[in-house]
Amino acid sequence: PPREGAPPRRRDIVATSPFLRAAAGDRPDRVPVWFMRQAGRVLPEYRALRANTAMLDSCRNPDLVTEITLQPIRRFRPDAAIFFSDIVLPLAAVGVDVDIVAGVGPVVAHPVRSRADLDILRPLEPDDVPYVRTAVGSLIRELGTTPLIGFAGAPFTLASYLIEGGPSRSHIRTKALMYSEPELWHDLLGRLADITAAFLRVQVDAGADAVQLFDSWAGALSEDDYRRYVAPHSSRVLAAFADDGIPRIHFGVNTGQLLGAMGEVGADVVGVDWRVPLDEAVKRIGPGRSVQGNLDPAAVFAPGDLLAEKVRDVCRRGAAAPGHIFNLGHGVLPESDPGVLAHIVDLVHQF
Ligand code: CP3
Repeated sequence: PPREGAPPRRRDIVATSPFLRAAAGDRPDRVPVWFMRQAGRVLPEYRALRANTAMLDSCRNPDLVTEITLQPIRRFRPDAAIFFSDIVLPLAAVGVDVDIVAGVGPVVAHPVRSRADLDILRPLEPDDVPYVRTAVGSLIRELGTTPLIGFAGAPFTLASYLIEGGPSRSHIRTKALMYSEPELWHDLLGRLADITAAFLRVQVDAGADAVQLFDSWAGALSEDDYRRYVAPHSSRVLAAFADDGIPRIHFGVNTGQLLGAMGEVGADVVGVDWRVPLDEAVKRIGPGRSVQGNLDPAAVFAPGDLLAEKVRDVCRRGAAAPGHIFNLGHGVLPESDPGVLAHIVDLVHQF
């Protein structure tokens, strides 16, 4: 069904883009490439724009969001744009006291640890994030035929920030709650799934051409725990977009043991970090899904010849999947040289 807000002509043209064709399991004439965290601190023009504005305030300013999303498109000419926002924005929009602290990440003032704490997580209404609709609308006009990826954090990754109160290596409090109070856990993840789906719905209805669900910290779980405590909720988020005719990308870090399970929750494309080679990842994911990845973000710092060989190796192994979208195995490291990122785009396109 036609989506509201997106002019039909643009959607028809964008459907033939290398990014959307690869996502659909096709082999376009070039391997499409974009970078997670392509907008941001790696670009001097981003640092200049953001100098006096807090991260979440930038996300609420449609002019800033539009400009920051477009900056890496002008510089790198990648095959897709990713909407500039953050996974904690919808939590802030429903009233969670969360801030993004530079060099740390999201910090939650009152962590969620009991049933009473759940009340803060009311459903997200489209009018809670009017700036998202405005920014996506202006972006699809500015982007022309370059596809726009909308995104959100998956329930488990959001729950970890909410329960720990900030970034965590061990996820101790998160797992303690998951194991000891399963009913509360599933209630929490259910609410987060609703918020996440509503946040993605605003982006898709405003014209986003694809969605990526980031379960960045799911790799901390065994496959068994992932299937029992997490998969049903991620599944529900992705199922909400089954009839939109847009690809759903699902990504996590350190998820070698989960690739099969993550492919089963309703993703059209599975994002793979750099620890598992793509041809091996394809075997674990199973047939019918495209892959996205997976150059080590630190390979950007390798000598030119070795970098070029690594880029080609990723492209060769990616050919084992029905469709392959080139990316790094996680976000661009802030110390990366933007010139090297532009060179990687050329190397992938020449492959
Ligand atoms: O270019 C893009 O990829 C789009 C923008 C984007 C941001 N965050 C902007 C951002 C995306 C897709 C995200 C998702 C996100 N946010 C994730 C999932 C992706 C991943 O990395 O696994 C996670 C876990 C977060 C939470 C978060 N927000 C972290 C861990 C940080 C870094 C904190 C730091 O300073 O080291 C943020 C802040 C953030 N989100 C920045 C940007 C550009 C940096 C803030 C700044 O520039 O001051």
